[in-house]
Amino acid sequence: MSHIRGRFHKAADKLVTDYTASIPFDWRLYRHDIAGSIAHAKMLAKQGIISEKEAEIIISGLASIREEIEQGKFQFKPELEDIHMSIEARLLEKVGEVGGKLHTARSRNDQVALDLRLLAKEAISGTLVKLREFQQALISLAEANKGVVIPGYTHLQPAQPVLLAHHLLAYFEMLQRDIDRFNDCLKRVDVMPLGSGAIAGVAYNIDRDFLARELGFSQISQNSIDAVSDRDFVVEYEAAASLCMMHLSRLAEEIILWSSAEFNFIELDEAYTTGSSIMPQKKNPDVAELVRGKTGRVYGKLMALLVTMKALPLSYNRDMQEDKEGFFDTVDTLLSTLEVFTGMVKTLRVKAENTEQAVKQGYILATDLADYLVKKGEAFRTAHNIVARLISYAMERGKSFSQLSLSEYKEFSPLFGEDVYSITIESSIAARDVIGGTAPKQVDRALAAAKKLLGECKG
Ligand code: ARG
Repeated sequence: MSHIRGRFHKAADKLVTDYTASIPFDWRLYRHDIAGSIAHAKMLAKQGIISEKEAEIIISGLASIREEIEQGKFQFKPELEDIHMSIEARLLEKVGEVGGKLHTARSRNDQVALDLRLLAKEAISGTLVKLREFQQALISLAEANKGVVIPGYTHLQPAQPVLLAHHLLAYFEMLQRDIDRFNDCLKRVDVMPLGSGAIAGVAYNIDRDFLARELGFSQISQNSIDAVSDRDFVVEYEAAASLCMMHLSRLAEEIILWSSAEFNFIELDEAYTTGSSIMPQKKNPDVAELVRGKTGRVYGKLMALLVTMKALPLSYNRDMQEDKEGFFDTVDTLLSTLEVFTGMVKTLRVKAENTEQAVKQGYILATDLADYLVKKGEAFRTAHNIVARLISYAMERGKSFSQLSLSEYKEFSPLFGEDVYSITIESSIAARDVIGGTAPKQVDRALAAAKKLLGECKG
């Protein structure tokens, strides 16, 4: 029977034990729990609440429990409910009654809040590292294919030519916002809750600032009721993860399209594709599909936690135990997604021959033709109309812009001159020479800025 069932006459029903236990998943907090307990024991001794000798015994007991867990020698029992009780019970077994002093001036409510915050801090730094590696892979791919032009799409219809590097840098921007969001989330995670006790604070002369310093927190919580009730930081991580997965999923979708026989813009490395069990010709982009698929899973965890929290009266309620599996799963999904996706981006090959062909299809220079007339004095709306009629004329005759004669052009506007033939894919791209535009000069500048940013993050 669990060591905290003193007032009960019966053991918990086996079904209840299994139903309520969190140990099958919260064992993962063992390092954080032990780190928190060691800091707490040090603080209790420093404040004279327990003796130095007692703290030493407790701390070495905790350290040996950590080893047992790491060596797979620790026996987790569902009747001990969660990681906090499992470790405490083992401590009592190992060091005897003095182990019972560890829980002085503490409750599992502030303890679990602490453990989760410690894990969230680690998760955020791991996420940031992986996001930067992904950004680096995007930059390398952009640089390796610097001159490559692709059709830029709106409505998935060819719109205007753009540099592939410009397109990839769009994702660099999205990931930069993700990085900002995780960094911002970190500010709210970085708050030390111990000292809140079960709800009201604790009735001992503790030193919360010491605990914060020991555990590497920059702030301490300011309201004990809030501190044991708050899971905003988990919601925030999951929300930032959801947005990040949305970005990754959009790129995954493009990779799926681009690697299809219809687009044929890229070739994925064989290590990142799978074959079909029935159709030998297939090379499937499963990794990209699963990135897209797992995005739904991450959104689901966010929604689940929001719903779990929405009507909970203050302060701690057992419902909150439901925060963990979704959180851990989100961290694991995001980290593994970033890792495998980085590898896929690093190894994919761009088929510049095909993107070049694709850009030449259709009337992708239509805007440039309209801009040409505007520069000769036509109003933009009129110019748009003239080019629209010109396209319909050319389509009926199966001709591209370059195949139209000057006299054909002139039938649509007297402003057309010989120089209309100098409108090319290259001139179109070079013309978009504004900050944020696709002109090579601007993209070079953006690439340099992106590299500088990454260099600063490393330094
Ligand atoms: N396993 C619990 C959780 O994950 C720990 C806190 C339990 N507190 C309590 N008063 N039952 O939320």
